Order: sequence, then structure tokens, then C-alpha cells
Amino acid sequence: WGPDDEDEQRRRGASGPVRVRVPAKVNLHLGVGPLRRDGYHELNTVYHAISIHDELTARRGDTLTLTMEGEGAGELALDDTNLAIRAAHALAGYAGVPPHARLHLRKQIPLAGGLAGGSADAAAALVACDALWGTGLSRDELARIAAGLGSDVPFLIHGGTALGTGRGETVSPVLARPTTWHWVVAVADGGLSTPAAYRELDRLRDVGTAGEPLGSTDALFAALRQRDPRVLAATLGNDLQDAALAMRPSLAETLKAGDAAGALAGIVSGSGPTCVFLATDAADAERIAAELTTADVCREARTAHGPVPGARIT
Ligand code: C5P
Repeated sequence: WGPDDEDEQRRRGASGPVRVRVPAKVNLHLGVGPLRRDGYHELNTVYHAISIHDELTARRGDTLTLTMEGEGAGELALDDTNLAIRAAHALAGYAGVPPHARLHLRKQIPLAGGLAGGSADAAAALVACDALWGTGLSRDELARIAAGLGSDVPFLIHGGTALGTGRGETVSPVLARPTTWHWVVAVADGGLSTPAAYRELDRLRDVGTAGEPLGSTDALFAALRQRDPRVLAATLGNDLQDAALAMRPSLAETLKAGDAAGALAGIVSGSGPTCVFLATDAADAERIAAELTTADVCREARTAHGPVPGARIT
């Protein structure tokens, strides 16, 4: 069972269930430019896929259905507004096949957490249904469909560490010698709305109280090549952080606690409220996570590493 067999199965369509694992993302750099006429902001971002995963299983069915367990079960709509269902419809429409599948999600990525959980599920549904239906699209074709579903979805098809431009949907991989970075992910109680965070940033910029916008990604790329977490720590940044802090002032305590626990750096992930901390190694990450748990500044502190691949059949 090698890559050729997998390709062959993808062309024919799977008879059994197709299981896909998809990671969460953090933004090592999230530079937010002006609001565009289409309602999106121009971004200059560096995405990084980390080892917190959702798993989506696709089986043959007579209609399109979705069930779920894990993080957020019972809170997330499972109808046509769900991004996984929308992804299946988009692929079926593109490939000209009936959108028939039974999808089941096992979620570990928190909802509305700034970790792109919904986008991850859309990416997983594209990869899983492509295999189930035997539509055999390339990753680039899947990424093109993904762009219509959400700004982060193309990145979650690819994974790794990548530069995102446009509204985030244009993705180019960052080529660096393989290094593993160790993170602590502080999951908050409840989510934050991404559109609300962008609106809050625009408001802070209008009234002149937003922080200086981030500059170029050059220092971050140099740090990724240097493979020293202390150097990388100094280059992390997120223009949405002030907005997330304005909407959820308690995040300042979370960031302070990570600093006190000896994290090399701490930032809000995407539009928040999840905070991520850079550790020197896996043991350091475990220690920081334990301290954050004791400090009671988050719902849960998990360790993770990155980069990891994007949505993949297991
Ligand atoms: O693309 P996605 O559907 O994930 O975006 C959710 C919302 O986040 C958008 O409707 C928009 O309000 C905001 N957003 C933005 N600029 C971006 C990406 C997202 O303003 N580049």
C-alpha cells in the first residue's frame, strides 16, 4: 500500500470509510493591512500547522449528513451552514457528482478559538470526499475550491509553515530545514468572533489607539532558518492581538502567566481567544502547560508541536 495505490484508490473512489486528519493553525506573524472593498483585510501572514487535530470520516450514503463528537459537540450547527457540509457541496458542484456522504467529525480543535477549527474541517471534508467519490483532484485544485470556503482553508490543505497573502488564501510554502517547534496552547472558555475582531481592530485604528502595525516578515523567516527558539520568540507578532485583548481583557492575565512561567514568547492566536506560547523544548512545554493550569488562567493548557502536514488520509 504505497502512494501509487493511494492515487489509484482516489481515482476509483473508496468503498470503505475514508479517514482524514487535519491540524489546527497558529499565525506566527499576522500583519493586517487595510480593509478592502470586498470586506476583507489585506493580510501578510505566516501560517504554522500544529499537532492539535480534528479527524473527519467520510462514508458512502444516500444523502449528505454530518455528525460530530468532541470539542463543541452540541454547540456547532450540523446543517448547510457548517463548513464541512459547504465544502462537500462545493467539491460535488465542481466535479459534477452527487453530494452523497455520511461525514463524522471527531473534534479536538476548539470552536471560534483563533485556531481555524472550522476551516480545518472544511479542508478535511474536501480531501475525504475527493477520495470517497474518486474525483481525483490535485492538491492545488482542492486549494482553489478551498479559497471559496474561507481565507484559511487553502493553508489547511497544505499545512507546514507557509506565507499567506491576499486575504490569506494565497499560500506559498516556507522552505526551511526541518525543525520542530514546541508550543503551549492555552484554550479559553468560550470563543471570539473573527469578523468582530477585525472590526474592533479597524475601530482601534480609527481612534488611534491600535499598536504599530507589524512590519515585514524578514526577521521571522531568518529566525525560522536559524532554528533557535530564542531568536524565533523575538519575531512573533499579531496585529489582531490588541483587538482580542480589548474584547477579552482577561487574556492579558493569560499572557502574563505564560511569561511568568518562562515561555520564550506568548501571542494571541489569530483572532483569539486562544493564546500560544513558544517553549524551548518538549519538556519545557509540559512544564509551562502545568504552570498555566495551576495559575487557572485558561480552560485548558495543551502542548503541541509544529510544523505538521495539512489534511491527510490516514
Ligand atoms: O474568510 P473567512 O470566512 O474565514 O473570514 C471570516 C471573516 O473574517 C470575514 O467575513 C471578515 O469579516 C474577516 N476577515 C477579514 N480579512 C481577512 C480574513 C477574514 O476581514 N483577510
